[in-house]
Amino acid sequence: MELSPFGYSPHSSSAAPMASFLSGAATSRLLARTSTAARLSISPSPSSLRSLGSSSASSLLQSRLLLRQRRTSLHVPSVFYSGIASTKCAASAPEQLKIAKEDIKELLKTTFCHPILVRLGWHDAGTYNKNIEEWPRRGGANGSLRFEIELKHAANAGLVNALKLLQPIKDKYSSVTYADLFQLASATAVEEAGGPKIPMKYGRVDVSGPEECPEEGRLPDAGPPSPANHLRDVFYRMGLNDKEIVALSGAHTLGRSRPDRSGWGKPETKYTKDGPGAPGGHSWTVKWLKFDNSYFKDIKEKRDEDLLVLPTDAVLFDDPSFKVYAEKYAADQEAFFKDYSDAHAKLSNLGAKFDPPEGIALD
Ligand code: HEM
Repeated sequence: MELSPFGYSPHSSSAAPMASFLSGAATSRLLARTSTAARLSISPSPSSLRSLGSSSASSLLQSRLLLRQRRTSLHVPSVFYSGIASTKCAASAPEQLKIAKEDIKELLKTTFCHPILVRLGWHDAGTYNKNIEEWPRRGGANGSLRFEIELKHAANAGLVNALKLLQPIKDKYSSVTYADLFQLASATAVEEAGGPKIPMKYGRVDVSGPEECPEEGRLPDAGPPSPANHLRDVFYRMGLNDKEIVALSGAHTLGRSRPDRSGWGKPETKYTKDGPGAPGGHSWTVKWLKFDNSYFKDIKEKRDEDLLVLPTDAVLFDDPSFKVYAEKYAADQEAFFKDYSDAHAKLSNLGAKFDPPEGIALD
């Protein structure tokens, strides 16, 4: 069966690209959802569209887009709806965001995927270029990382696994945009791993097609010739400063590097050989599912071969300006948590277009 490029669910402009790499089971779920939506839909079937001339088809497609908001209320069980959501068109429905957050917590408990969800949120947002005004050409937190073309960028190796974990949640709460879901998952993962509460807002609008993905090469390399200059080039382009570079690097307190993905680190160490979750990889810290300031302590000491220090980690204690913050965070977890939560919230908003413009606070 062929999927229409416009899909059928309320935010399903993304459904077709997903289908090309999802598992058979996920694809059947997607197709099942598609046919339910098609039954409820007040717009024509793909076959009726195919049989029309191109101008009639395009005006019909335009009407479909205009009717998207109405269709949302047809598809979504009323239990997921707040009064505000049903009268006002926001990018994501607040009640669905709240329930999706609970599902993410369950996912974390069963799969220990905190690190890869944090990396997913960062890689969607981190393509932002402050020198480009136009959305979505400026990149940033707009859900473009769901498309295969961007997932195939070398820097994103392995992140398709994070998307596969989140897709069932997206299927359940179709009024939550991918851009919001990625950032919700990342902030929830940090909080659930023992990190600070992050002052997040939601309502990010999704890009609608792979042609809106940023070009490859906007994310940082781990081993550039001059790591300090490289980090500044990349993060200053996002509008972030030295303090934010160091604080955000502290996210490496979570997770592991895998040579078969990024090319960095050992295939396994004494800290990773038994998991939890998929075993293997090279962690920066001993307790790599706990969000604390041990990353700064460990990369400062560099005493354990089984703990990873990338060139871009090491430079945080070599560069005089970075070092001020790295030393501070190694000595004072509270200071790290404060600066991290501010920097993470800022990162999560980069390049995003919010609907409503002021965003949606969940609590
Ligand atoms: C400063 C520049 C950065 C560089 C060069 C860098 C590089 C890397 C590399 C090479 C990996 C290993 C990926 C793999 O093999 O699977 C990784 C993993 C990770 N990165 Fe970064 N990163 C940077 C900044 C950040 C930031 C700003 C965050 C979040 C705010 C972050 C969060 C993570 C997490 C949580 C993982 C672990 C993923 C997992 O275990 O699956 N990184 N990073």
